[in-house]
Amino acid sequence: MRVVTTKHELAAALQTSRASVLVPTMGALHAGHASLIQQGAEIAERRGYDGGCVVTIFVNPTQFNDAADFQRYPKTLEADLAICAANGAACVVAPTPEMVYPPDESIPVPPLPEQATKPFLEDRLRPGHFEGVCQVVLRLFQLTKPKAAIFGEKDWQQLQVVRAMTREQGLSIEIIPGPTVREEGGLAMSSRNRFLTPDERIRAFAISRGLRAAGTESTPQDAERRLGAELASAGIAPDYAVVRDAETLLPPVPGRPVRAIVAGRVGTVRLLDNAPWPNTK
Ligand code: PAF
Repeated sequence: MRVVTTKHELAAALQTSRASVLVPTMGALHAGHASLIQQGAEIAERRGYDGGCVVTIFVNPTQFNDAADFQRYPKTLEADLAICAANGAACVVAPTPEMVYPPDESIPVPPLPEQATKPFLEDRLRPGHFEGVCQVVLRLFQLTKPKAAIFGEKDWQQLQVVRAMTREQGLSIEIIPGPTVREEGGLAMSSRNRFLTPDERIRAFAISRGLRAAGTESTPQDAERRLGAELASAGIAPDYAVVRDAETLLPPVPGRPVRAIVAGRVGTVRLLDNAPWPNTK
């Protein structure tokens, strides 16, 4: 596995590969990322992409609207590289902030798609967040030139935003969703789970339990009520717990795919999760 940390190394890596699948991450890798990397490696292999799966590790400052959250974001590069190698990554790009945002260059924020401004979900709670995500994703695409990129379904709004932004920018990069990996008890894997106390972890199970329960309800309104009730039973006051059009993230319209989406704090840790609706599995 090749590890790239400078502009020269990146140029050399790009010279030897014509096609790759990108898995962009902010490091602090866990089993959820491991599964995205495996997925990327398998797709690259199947399609004969000579560059294989490329993982970027970069904690992007422009997408944090909370300086404390940025400061405490876990940094575990050595362990991350081991996970990348063990799961079939061909190359890890761990750029310096100056490589991503050169001091003498202004890196544009693309026009935001409606998925990043209209739903009133993460867009309402984290002003500026999707500007930062779109800016860095576009920049990482430009630096690594992938044919396809994998984004986890756990951050459902981010997945829809990136997909729409890529389409609206006219880029020929396929955006592939990566299924959420869950811990025992149903908690969606996240780099932030490590900050949960044992008691908070048990309370957090109410999120996936609530999503499963909501999936069995027969109307979006009942599903939202059921989800809210499950969260309340664990003392979780959600930022939102809603049932929306899976792609536009606006209120559901008959005949289109629908998703139940939730975010909320358990203790000091903000957790996100979602599931298809209805869902009788
Ligand atoms: O989902 C993440 O880890 C980040 O938002 C991403 C896509 C790597 C951009 O910094």
